Amino acid sequence: MPAERTLHVADSNSTVLVFADADAAAKAAADRIARVAADAVKARGKAVLGLATGATPEKVYEELAARVKAGALSFRDVTTYNLDEYYPIQPLDPLSYRSYMHRHLFGRVDLAPNRAHVLDGTVPESAAAEHAAQFDRWIDADGGLDLQLLGIGRNGHIGFNEPADLSAEAFAALPTRLVDLHPITRADAVREFGSPEAVIPRALTMGVRQILAARSIVMLATGAKKAAIVAEALKGPVSAAVPASLLRTVADRVVWLLDEPAAAELG
Ligand code: GLP
Repeated sequence: MPAERTLHVADSNSTVLVFADADAAAKAAADRIARVAADAVKARGKAVLGLATGATPEKVYEELAARVKAGALSFRDVTTYNLDEYYPIQPLDPLSYRSYMHRHLFGRVDLAPNRAHVLDGTVPESAAAEHAAQFDRWIDADGGLDLQLLGIGRNGHIGFNEPADLSAEAFAALPTRLVDLHPITRADAVREFGSPEAVIPRALTMGVRQILAARSIVMLATGAKKAAIVAEALKGPVSAAVPASLLRTVADRVVWLLDEPAAAELG
């Protein structure tokens, strides 16, 4: 799927590809995932993919599932790690990211269940830090992520790495951990949970360290609601106050896939 245009955002060093609509951007993300997976399997016998949830990647998973159904793609040699999970939550709760992934991808492709890793929203709180550390060790033991798919929150979060009052260096080193969700994140989650009181206010998230270490990073952002934060992340200061701006510190491994509405404030 060729991009409609390539944007050069001054000082960002980032590759920004803009597509006519969200479907075309999602198809381009699926193309990259399929290509990276095939290359990694060829090179070292397996591919390790970092996956995201939210409304934005739904079309990506639809596209990947369709390719598997058509026999054009296989997850036989793929291992996956999801970015985040609400805490606490049961995996069978329809609002869990584990059930989201089952609905959109895991239940529709030939991925081995024991290689589909999602942080466990049922671990006791006293064991959460060890569970999170173990998640990082598993990714490291798997040789790191070949590709991380990302979305962006309206506050610039990646995974559930929320805006923080930290130096960019300290933020970039954050491990996988239990976090409190930011007010904007909680407000946006009302869409899924139905009311502000029902939103689970904490989550387990993959850390910034692991995300930035991925050999390839695909940031997918679509829709007018993302235009302001996309512009801030690409044109504002690199700062923990806008988590996605840290992607500019590894710009040579990142591609931003946008639709026209999300690119509207980039000029
Ligand atoms: C969610 C997820 C993020 C996602 C973001 C954007 O809360 N934890 O990983 O990228 O918010 O979601 P959406 O694609 O629905 O806008």
